[in-house]
Formats: sequence, structure tokens, C-alpha cells
Amino acid sequence: MSKQEKIVTMFNEIASTYDVANRVLSFGVDKSWRKDACDKTYNFYGKKSIDLILDVACGTGDMCEFWDKRAKKLHIKIDKIIGADPSVGMLEKAKEKNLNAEFVEAEAKNLPFETGSVDILSISYGLRNVMDRKEGLEEFYRVLKPEGLLVILEFTKLQKASIASRVRDFYMKKILPIVGGFLSKNKEAYDYLPDSIEGFLTSEKLVGELEEVDFQMKEVKGYSMDISTLFIAQK
Ligand SMILES: C[S@@+](CC[C@H](N)C(=O)[O-])C[C@H]1O[C@@H](n2cnc3c(N)ncnc32)[C@H](O)[C@@H]1O
Repeated sequence: MSKQEKIVTMFNEIASTYDVANRVLSFGVDKSWRKDACDKTYNFYGKKSIDLILDVACGTGDMCEFWDKRAKKLHIKIDKIIGADPSVGMLEKAKEKNLNAEFVEAEAKNLPFETGSVDILSISYGLRNVMDRKEGLEEFYRVLKPEGLLVILEFTKLQKASIASRVRDFYMKKILPIVGGFLSKNKEAYDYLPDSIEGFLTSEKLVGELEEVDFQMKEVKGYSMDISTLFIAQK
């Protein structure tokens, strides 16, 4: 089994407890990060009518729900919201919620969408899991419309050994595997999270990779002492 297949299998295994574990482990703070990401993106895009928002690595559908809710609040009309993920288990949980969205089984590097058809493509806490990241970013670029926006929320590797990075490391390495492991009965999956952040990029490196694919950076914003970072880039 490839590393990518193992990751998807792991998400299938924790799908049924993912939402509860997520809310407990993040103390619900991720909601404010997601909301701000949606509002900033809508504000920057400036259109009151949008054809298609695609959320890649959609998991159980959190971002799809936020795109929909914030659009209603801001009086923006969205024709379609689609979530894509290779984990059938996560997609099943997303479908149970009866959100205003459709769901498809797909990997980041192979999206079943026409070139230049997506207005906004988001990926929240998912890019770390995409093993063929360059192919994934190129695929995002392909499916976006000219001037379409790529929105990434991610836990990037912190460059300096600041107090915030020590607190985050302690929480993610010591507390999270125990609590997440207990809630999901799968400690291995919650050991993977800090390891995947450690093996991921710093924000600066990710910006470099986005620019290599020809994206223009519009916003890089750290939340809660850089625990999480928002990237908005334009095609
Ligand atoms: C930490 S979850 C994040 C889910 C959701 N976006 C959220 O914010 O809660 C990561 C998701 O990435 C998905 N994933 C793993 N490998 C992927 C790939 N190659 N392409 C797209 N999604 C992938 C997993 O199945 C999982 O649902």
C-alpha cells in the first residue's frame, strides 16, 4: 500500500468520530478561522454571483457548510458547492448532513472538472495529506477560472522556536494523540497529525511552491499566534 493509500485508509477509519474529535481538540476555534477565510475570499473576489466553489479534501463537509452559510449572510448567490475527497468514509459522513452541496470521490491531483470552470477552490487542513503536492497544485490551477481564487487553510511548520510554536508542539505531540486516540480509538491516526505538520512546509516555502505554479499571492494570514495559516492566491 502506498503512503497516500495508507493516509486515505486512516481517514476512512476515523471518519465516524472525526467531527466530535475535531471540535473537542480545536475547542471550536477552527470555526473562526474558517469563517474569516470565507469572508476574506468573498470580499476579495467581489462578485455577488458565483458559479462554482470546489472544496478539495472536503472531509465531512465543514468548509462546504461555511461557504454556504457565509454566502447567505453576505447576500452572495452561489450556483453550486462541491466537495471532493478520496475517502469514502469521510464523504458518507458529509452526505449524512444534508448540506447545500454535492460530493464526489476524487483526489487533489485528478479532479473531474473542466479546465477553467471553478471560481473558488479551497482546501482546509488537507494539503499536508496530498503526497503529490506539485501535481495537486497544478491541478488546482488548471480547474480554476482565470482570476479564480485558491484558498488554503493549513497548519504549517513554524520556522522559529517561539513560545507559540512550543505550546503548539506540546499540545499536538502530547495532548492531541491521547485525547484524539481515546475519542477515535485510533491513536496511530492522531500520532500522524503532529508528524505530518513536522514533515510539511513553512509558510514561506508554501508561498514559493504556489508562485512556481504561477499563482499570485494575495493574502497570507496567521491565526492564533500562527497555529493556523490562511493563504489566498489568484490564478
Ligand atoms: C484533516 S482532514 C480535513 C477535512 C476537512 N477539509 C476539514 O477541514 O475538516 C484531511 C482530508 O484530506 C483527505 N485527503 C487525503 N489525501 C488526499 C488527496 N490526495 N487528495 C484530496 N484529499 C485527500 C482525507 O481523506 C481527509 O478527508
